[in-house]
Amino acid sequence: MNFYLILSLLCVPPIFTQEQLSLLESMANPIIESDSTNAVEQNEQAAIIGQHLFFDPQFSANGEVSCATCHKAELYFTDGQAVSTGISAVTRNAPTVLNAAHQRWFFWDGRADTLWGQPIQTFEHPAEMGADRNNIANIVTSDPVYATLWQEVFGDSKDDPVDETAANVAKCLAAYETKLVALDAPFDRFALGDKTAMSESAQRGLLFFIGEGGCLRCHFGPWFTDGAFHTVGVGPLDGGALRDAGRFDAIEKLQTSKFTARSAQSDDQKGTRAIISKHIARRREDWGAFRTPSLRNVAKTPPYMHAGQLATLADVVEHYSTLENFVTADHHRETILVPLDLDTQGKVDLIAFLKSLTGSPPPDHLLKSPPIR
Ligand code: HEC
Ligand code: HEC
Repeated sequence: MNFYLILSLLCVPPIFTQEQLSLLESMANPIIESDSTNAVEQNEQAAIIGQHLFFDPQFSANGEVSCATCHKAELYFTDGQAVSTGISAVTRNAPTVLNAAHQRWFFWDGRADTLWGQPIQTFEHPAEMGADRNNIANIVTSDPVYATLWQEVFGDSKDDPVDETAANVAKCLAAYETKLVALDAPFDRFALGDKTAMSESAQRGLLFFIGEGGCLRCHFGPWFTDGAFHTVGVGPLDGGALRDAGRFDAIEKLQTSKFTARSAQSDDQKGTRAIISKHIARRREDWGAFRTPSLRNVAKTPPYMHAGQLATLADVVEHYSTLENFVTADHHRETILVPLDLDTQGKVDLIAFLKSLTGSPPPDHLLKSPPIR
């Protein structure tokens, strides 16, 4: 009989070693470090501008798409779709914006190295919002909702180069998004000593996650991610061989973007982020690799993986358990994944643990467009 099954039959709570308990404590309720490349990150007025922008469809080509179209507050800032649709369909799944500010790289392929490096790409993507940065600059400096606030934060900027205004728009969005935090999950309370915060099933799932399951090799630390890029063998939505080059194509985009940590628009062009981005080079194994996503709030953000290929957490656990449809980008590539052969109880436990990572959503006033002054 399986060890976990015996445990569950005996109803003995799983036992964590002292070493495991201190590991868990180090993963509880992290703080979001501030981003030195964004001078207005902590500016309250900038965050209000960002909050207006996030819910405002007037920038999009058809006047109907805002950030909130694909990052809906009620769905933990995702859209519940396998791949998103803005002006038209895109090829990737919308990740949550909650806790996004802590990340090392942004987007599934990490083609942005700062949070504010993300919005201009999305605004101007023809399938997403189809906006134009001249038009965006025009609106924020003249529309009554924005103009006064804008003047207060950035002064008279009608004559600023358009890229500077576009970068400031992006920095305001980042100031708002930095407030969108969802922590204090049952896992955090458990890790900080409240032994009743997680069910025994979830505790067994946690033990498996940090032990035998090997999940911690990639999903480690307080954000449950190594901030790096891997393939876990999930093929494209419509089957067949992998076609999305992922990290491989992203590195060139990162080097040519005007909105990165080391670009003229950055407020810390010589900081750590900038230095790492400068020296990064693409390697063969980057082809088809995607960022290890954070697992915080994961139960609230289906479907899963970079193109929403897996509908439920049960499907994800089944994938890691059997690796049955494993698709490899390169036949010579080694993978550290091995089928975990979980039994029914093991799967239930692992899912129960993943559900214990759901934190409290941000306060209501951050979940909608702010009042107009
Ligand atoms: C058409 C749907 C759509 C719209 C509109 C949209 N997004 Fe997204 N967003 C996505 C998708 C899809 C991704 C992932 C794309 C990728 O990885 O290539 C994403 C990625 C992101 C990320 C990166 C998250 C991470 O974990 O790396 C952030 C932050 C974000 N969007 C914020 C915004 C903001 C701010 C706006 C408005 C300016 C916006 N989005 C508009 C669909 C959308
Ligand atoms: C080799 C590194 C690696 C290991 C080991 C690993 N993961 Fe992942 N995980 C990833 C990557 C990379 C993705 C995203 C893959 C993609 O989109 O193609 C991912 C995606 C996920 C997702 C979907 C998250 C989302 O928002 O879409 C879940 C859930 C998950 N992993 C849980 C686990 C569990 C549970 C284990 C242990 C059984 C595990 N992972 C082991 C790297 C890893």
